[in-house]
Formats: sequence, C-alpha cells, structure tokens
Amino acid sequence: MKNTSENLLEQLASTQLLPLYTVNNLTYLDKLEHLLVTNDIRFIEVTFRTKLVLPAIEKLSASGNLIVGAGTVRTLAEAKAAVEHGAKFIVSPVVIPEVIAYCLENDILIVPGVATPSDIQKAVECGIKTVKFFPADIYGGLNAINALSGPYYDVNFLPTGGINQKNFCDYLNNEKVIAVGGSFIISEKELMQENNQLLEDKLTELLDKLKNK
Ligand code: 3PG
Repeated sequence: MKNTSENLLEQLASTQLLPLYTVNNLTYLDKLEHLLVTNDIRFIEVTFRTKLVLPAIEKLSASGNLIVGAGTVRTLAEAKAAVEHGAKFIVSPVVIPEVIAYCLENDILIVPGVATPSDIQKAVECGIKTVKFFPADIYGGLNAINALSGPYYDVNFLPTGGINQKNFCDYLNNEKVIAVGGSFIISEKELMQENNQLLEDKLTELLDKLKNK
C-alpha cells in the first residue's frame, strides 16, 4: 500500500496546479474555498508570511473539501505548528534537513525548494525525489530544469516563482514537471473585489488551457 504522502504527490501531479495563498484577512476564505472547489482545484498552499497562516490552515481544512498545506516554511517549529493545525503537506523555500526528517518520519508530503545542483544534491541526500524549483524564472526557467534533469534524471520538479497564465503550460509540458505553483492562480486581492467575475473568468481560462495544453 502507498504512503499518504505518495498518494498526495500523485494527486498533486494529476491536479497540476498548486495555488499559493497569503492571508491577511480570514473573511475571504469561504469564497476562496468555494472558487477552488467549484473549479476542481483541490490543493492550496497557505504561506507563513503573515500571522494568520495557522488559523487559515485550520479554517480551510475544516470542511475536508481541500487539501491544505503550508508554504514558506523555514523552521521545524513552523512545520510542526502547521501540521497540528491541519496541514497535509509542507513546502519550504530551501532545503531544511530537520524539516525534511520530521515530514518523512510522519509521512507528510514535503517539497523543499532548490535552485542549484548543490541544493538538489542536498535534498536527494535527505531522501527527497520531488523538489520545488524556486525562483524558477530567475534561475533559468525551463532551460535550467532541462539542464538539471541531466544529472538529476530521477528528480521531479514543482516550479514556482514567476509562473503565470502565459507560461504555466510550457512548464507543465516538460516531463519532469509534476505541477506548477504560484500566486497567479488566486489571490486575496482578487477575492476582495465584490464582483468576482474577472477571477472566475481567469480560472475558467486557466483550466481550459490546462485541458488543451
Ligand atoms: C513561492 O514561494 O513559491 C513564490 O513566492 C511564488 O512566486 P509567485 O508569487 O511569483 O508565484
């Protein structure tokens, strides 16, 4: 039987989109959940960039409709707090061996951030097979992923940083890319608008592109 973390990774690879969300106001979380669920985007990464990250993870996890994870995790304490509040996966900007060890021991999906071959080597030595490639646009985008996939042919990538509506399919068409992440999918700023037609249209367009890529 597969581990929970392996199953989650497979689900992420089939969803292909990992929205990255920074929360300044809990009021918009219901709308966020509704829009993600109606568009069948089941994953959400809430970032440790504001004080509301933990209540937001807890609130979004409550209904069981979404697979909620924590992003921008930089310490073991943050990883543990996130899991205690319902996070099912952890994303970090860099390789943090103690966070990786904690997640692997507890069968929690962990995607650590890398930008260079040395980073990937460090992640692999910690037992990781799928890494976040961040910041993807600045560190060479698809050219870099292709070059890194030479020596690291057995590693998969989740690019984030500078991914947008125009380039996300190019990344997804690379066989080493399992999904793309970023703030381009849905943001609090968009949810704050009274009329969400523009946001709904954007999500429809994203999913159309995904279907036809
Ligand atoms: C990340 O941590 O993955 C990035 O900050 C996402 O970058 P983006 O805002 O350009 O999507």
